[in-house]
Amino acid sequence: MALFWLIKGIFFVGLICKLSLAFSVEPKYTKFQFEEQLLEKLIRFEMYIEKLEKDNKILIANSMATINTTKYEMDKELNNFVESKSEIQKLLADNLNKANEMNTAFADNLKNTKQEIQKELDTITGEQTSIKDDINGLTGQIDQISSYVAERKTNKDNTTIVFNVYADSPQTRSKSEPIIFDHIRQNKGDGYNASTGIFTAPVAGIYQFNGHLCTNKAGDLEYAIYASNVYIVKGEFRAASDSDDEKCTSFGASHYVQTGEDVSVRGYRVGLDAGGDDLLSFSGALIKAL
Ligand SMILES: *[C@@H]1O[C@H](CO)[C@@H](O)[C@H](O)[C@H]1NC(C)=O
Ligand SMILES: *[C@@H]1O[C@H](CO)[C@@H](O)[C@H](O)[C@H]1NC(C)=O
Ligand SMILES: *[C@@H]1O[C@H](CO)[C@@H](O)[C@H](O)[C@H]1NC(C)=O
Repeated sequence: MALFWLIKGIFFVGLICKLSLAFSVEPKYTKFQFEEQLLEKLIRFEMYIEKLEKDNKILIANSMATINTTKYEMDKELNNFVESKSEIQKLLADNLNKANEMNTAFADNLKNTKQEIQKELDTITGEQTSIKDDINGLTGQIDQISSYVAERKTNKDNTTIVFNVYADSPQTRSKSEPIIFDHIRQNKGDGYNASTGIFTAPVAGIYQFNGHLCTNKAGDLEYAIYASNVYIVKGEFRAASDSDDEKCTSFGASHYVQTGEDVSVRGYRVGLDAGGDDLLSFSGALIKAL
């Protein structure tokens, strides 16, 4: 730096000399005086340069110190930063661990919950199946009820069932043969069939049935009303041996009969007598449809 200034100074001095030579047509000073002055200026210049150099050194030292301080501060900051970084890393690692733990716990919970949900689903599916079965059962029952209601409606429109039929000629029947009453007084509901002697219930319900049979002198009669080949009333009747003409007896029973069930009157062992004042008869009526 000093050398630079020195060289620059010398050039400067040279320039001044040249200018002095150019403009001093008539020299004001002697050569000695001129050299003396030049030397003086040179020394002053040298001193100036030295001062400049010193100032520069101080400046540089100050700058260096500032840089050193700045570096120191920066190092400190850097250390802080590094510390912070490691703390943050530690924090991150901790949090990561915690997150991992939570994750594992969450996964476990999720698994358990999933299993529980699956179990619930299985239960619900089972319940659904049984509900479906129930619904099917209920649907079946509803169908049954519907048809029952429809049947009841039909029955209601057919509730008037009453028949009253008779025979006016002797008959000989076996124990298993219904007596045929071939004359029809009434047959509302068309339950009685005059060619078979059988009443077939058009609707289910409680019925009242009555029989009236006659036998001749000394006759020994066994009588019964049968529903589906099972008697619902039966008995014996004997006419006195000294009686002049036929004797009659009446019998009856109330009975619940299902739709389509057969009911008939039977009389056997001896001939049934009929004619004139004595008629064989069979009657019945629906008391209540059920
Ligand atoms: C830089 O600064 C540090 C701390 O202040 C000091 O120990 C060190 O000597 C200095 N270095 C220079 C070259 O000034
Ligand atoms: C009454 O009953 C008969 C025989 O059971 C049936 O054919 C007829 O349709 C019924 N009448 C009504 C109005 O439902
Ligand atoms: C009566 O019964 C006979 C013999 O089962 C049958 O042929 C006939 O159709 C029946 N009559 C009526 C009105 O149902």
